[in-house]
Amino acid sequence: MDYLHAALTESMRLYPPVPADFKEALEDDVLPDGTAVRARQRVIYYTYAMGRDKASWGPDCLEFRPERWLDARGAFAGGAESPYKYAVFNAGPRLCVGKRFAYAQMKAVAAAVLARFRVEVLPGQAEAVKPKLNTTLYMKRGLMVRFAAREQRHEPVTAAGGCAIKRELPKAAIERDGSCIQN
Ligand code: HEM
Repeated sequence: MDYLHAALTESMRLYPPVPADFKEALEDDVLPDGTAVRARQRVIYYTYAMGRDKASWGPDCLEFRPERWLDARGAFAGGAESPYKYAVFNAGPRLCVGKRFAYAQMKAVAAAVLARFRVEVLPGQAEAVKPKLNTTLYMKRGLMVRFAAREQRHEPVTAAGGCAIKRELPKAAIERDGSCIQN
């Protein structure tokens, strides 16, 4: 569970669901680094850029490496230095109230999908994967993956996004848990 927590955290470091956010000063203020902010000025921060900042994350900042969140025993140990370094869920008194719920939901989905399917990213997409900036982060052209029911041969997801595997799963399995993610 710690590794999954680290993998989700690392995914959102590189691809934060809220890629940019802003705060507005109610009155004249001074940021900790001495920068003056006048009343009603907005300070925009880009979690997308912050998660890829070499000064914060080191020379491997662009690599997906869940281990960076784990201690020597493999326990999740992230965020100890400052909650403001990883502002994916905001930080401080207005931290996202749904943070724990969001992690629980992501873990439930990961467990449900990965227990039943092998998921492979189709090759040759490194250049095609581009973020689409919005209030929340999307992929410009999506990501083609191949789902294969575990212990069954690989079969690609159909172009329409439907799951070709569903037809091959035993009917009882589909009825029991709706294991094929579709639509
Ligand atoms: C991966 C999923 C999520 C991400 C990345 C996320 C991110 C954020 C961020 C960045 C903020 C701060 C917005 C701001 O004040 O500028 C926020 C606030 C908030 N989020 Fe989330 N959120 C997620 C899921 C959820 C879920 C599942 C819920 C509810 C069940 C939720 C409820 C809220 C609420 C109520 C606030 C306002 C908190 C406040 O201002 O005191 N969020 N979230």
